Amino acid sequence: MLEINKFDRIIVANWKLNGSIDFIEQYLQELNCSKLESSNNCGIICTPSVYFHKLVGRLNPLFLGGQDCSNYSEGAYTGEVSATMLKDASCQFCIIGHSERRQIFGQSNEDVCIKAMNLIANNINPIICIGETFEEKNQNLTKDIIYTQISKSVPKNATKDFVIIAYEPIWAIGTGKIPSLEEIDNIHFFIKNEIQNIENYKILYGGSVNSNNASEIMDLKNVDGVLVGGASLDALEYKKIMNS
Ligand code: PGA
Repeated sequence: MLEINKFDRIIVANWKLNGSIDFIEQYLQELNCSKLESSNNCGIICTPSVYFHKLVGRLNPLFLGGQDCSNYSEGAYTGEVSATMLKDASCQFCIIGHSERRQIFGQSNEDVCIKAMNLIANNINPIICIGETFEEKNQNLTKDIIYTQISKSVPKNATKDFVIIAYEPIWAIGTGKIPSLEEIDNIHFFIKNEIQNIENYKILYGGSVNSNNASEIMDLKNVDGVLVGGASLDALEYKKIMNS
C-alpha cells in the first residue's frame, strides 16, 4: 500500500458515472501526464472500473482509483466488483462511503467499515467519505454525525499511514455552495484532534471544489487536499487545481 505521509497534498478526481473511451483519450491528451510538474502532490483519478484498463500505465505520476468496492470477496453477488478485482486491475486507491452510495444505495457505516477492511487486505488505500446533510448542519449536529460516521466506518486496523478521510458536507456536493473557510478548518481540526484513534489522519475537503476556490481551501492548516467531482471532468481544470 502506498505510504501517504510523504505527500503534501492529495487531489482526488471523482468522475462518478461519467466517461467514455473517447472522453478518456481526450482527457489524457489534455492532462499530458508526462509533462506534469513533479511535486509532492498526490493526484488520484477515480473512474468507473470498466475503464481502468484504458488508464493503466498512462497516468504516471498520478494514480488510479475506484469509486466503491463490494462488501464481499467472491461468489453469487451479481453486479459487484471486489477489492481483489480492483487490485488485479491495478487500482491503488478507492473511494468508499461516498454520500451518493450511502444515500442512493443505502450503504451504512458498517458496510463502509467492511469495504475498508477488504481494501486494506488487498493493499488498496481507502478514501473514506463522511459528511452531514443540510438539516443536520442546521441542527448543529455536524460534529456528532461525523463522530459517529468515523467511529463506525474506520476499521480498527486502519492507520494514518495509508487511510485517507474525506469530509464532504452533503449539501455542498454539486451545489456550488461551500462552508466558510473557518467552518472547514474547524471541522478538520475536530477530526484530526478530537476523535480517538484518528489523530493526524490526512483529511480532504470535498464539495463544489474548483480552480477558483481550491487554493484557499488547501491553504487551510488542517486541510490535506481536496476531493473534486464535477470540476475534475475537465482535465485542464483538474490540472489547475493540482497546481493551486
Ligand atoms: P462536486 O462533487 O465537486 O461536484 O461537488 C464532489 C464529490 O461528490 O465527491
